[in-house]
Amino acid sequence: MSIATTERTAVCLTPTVRSTPVALGPLAAVTGADEYAPLRDGATVRYANFDYAASAPALIEVQNAVQEALGEYASVHRGAGHLSQRSTSRYEQAREIVAEFVGARADDHVIFTGNTTDSINLLAACVPGEVVVLDCEHHANLLPWKKIGARVISAPLSIEGTLEVLEKELSSRPAALVSVTGASNVTGEVLPIRRLAALAHRHGARIAVDGAQLVPHRRISLRESGVDYLAFSGHKLYAPFGSGVLVGRADWFDEAEPVRCGGGASYEVIGTPVAKTVEVAWHTGPARHEAGSPNVLGAVAIGAACEAIARLGEDAIARHERFLTDLLLTSLERIDGVRTLKIWADSTERVGIVAFTVEGRAPREVAEFLSSEYGIGVRDGKFCAHPVVNRLGCYDGAVRASIGLGTGENDVRRLVRALEDLSARQK
Ligand SMILES: Cc1ncc(COP(=O)(O)O)c(C=O)c1O
Repeated sequence: MSIATTERTAVCLTPTVRSTPVALGPLAAVTGADEYAPLRDGATVRYANFDYAASAPALIEVQNAVQEALGEYASVHRGAGHLSQRSTSRYEQAREIVAEFVGARADDHVIFTGNTTDSINLLAACVPGEVVVLDCEHHANLLPWKKIGARVISAPLSIEGTLEVLEKELSSRPAALVSVTGASNVTGEVLPIRRLAALAHRHGARIAVDGAQLVPHRRISLRESGVDYLAFSGHKLYAPFGSGVLVGRADWFDEAEPVRCGGGASYEVIGTPVAKTVEVAWHTGPARHEAGSPNVLGAVAIGAACEAIARLGEDAIARHERFLTDLLLTSLERIDGVRTLKIWADSTERVGIVAFTVEGRAPREVAEFLSSEYGIGVRDGKFCAHPVVNRLGCYDGAVRASIGLGTGENDVRRLVRALEDLSARQK
């Protein structure tokens, strides 16, 4: 088998892509869509990106917004000059757009961070009590909690079982916070966030959602879901300019000592030479946790991504992704030796992430084959979620294909053909 001749080119020929009228195309234009990848035999092929879950390309709208903001870029917050005011206004506008996009309550804080990891570490520094977390999490939603002594619960093999175990844990000993993933970065399975929020609240706990994999795929409203805190990354939301978000209830943020201390977080610092010290009065509000010069372009990028995704519409995104994910899953399940992974036997919803193993092949070997023979980029390994990948029996890791707004049906069909080819080859 080989790549369709429409997608593959001989070396030195100008790449051309003939559209196939019946195939479902990408839902949105993204950067890198016309990139050609070199193959082992010297030809090139249009790069098929199946690594959205690690880092998504920028939406063209995001690229344009950043370009425009760059043209007027200047310092923020402390300047009276024209461009300083323009940059400040863009930064604060991005905050409002994000608040609207995630259905924040009027008194929630939207804090710009570096990424999801940064957001969860910040929240961990603000929680005024015990935390409960599941062991199936990405390390970003596990290790910051472990550091502050969280209770780590082993997630049973069903969602109903997981809810029961959490219910039992919170009834036996109260906690201030439960922190869960919105969608698994290994399997894409989605947890029932509203039910989890209601469960936590019944026991007097708040709930934080690691939205790194959920927010790029599904709309979530803090107001409607009851979620207290949400963390996510710009670079997984088609806005790879170094910013992330932590949004949620103001009181813990306003009462906690800032983790990063410096200018911007403090509104008054008084030197007391006799005592050889300084007294600091910290801001309340997002500024308290945004010390230092903020990443204006990162925030602008996230704001532009939120607006572009909202314009595309939740239904269109879900339809596009469901079609491609179902096509990929059903096709993979028909290939000899390919096993797709699932954490919870009763899960019914997933975002566009499919992890699998190929019998007798190391995940890295599969990933290298897909890249060098078919120009396909996937991720292999344990995806920074070692406990759950081990629990799924994949001690050497697995391969993960993740889909996004720039993925088309032809990409999925190429991935399936490649795996059929690999499965048919003699070891
Ligand atoms: C579910 C989940 N949470 C957190 C993270 C960490 O995100 P970041 O690397 O942007 O901090 C990731 C990254 O892959 C993830 O998939």
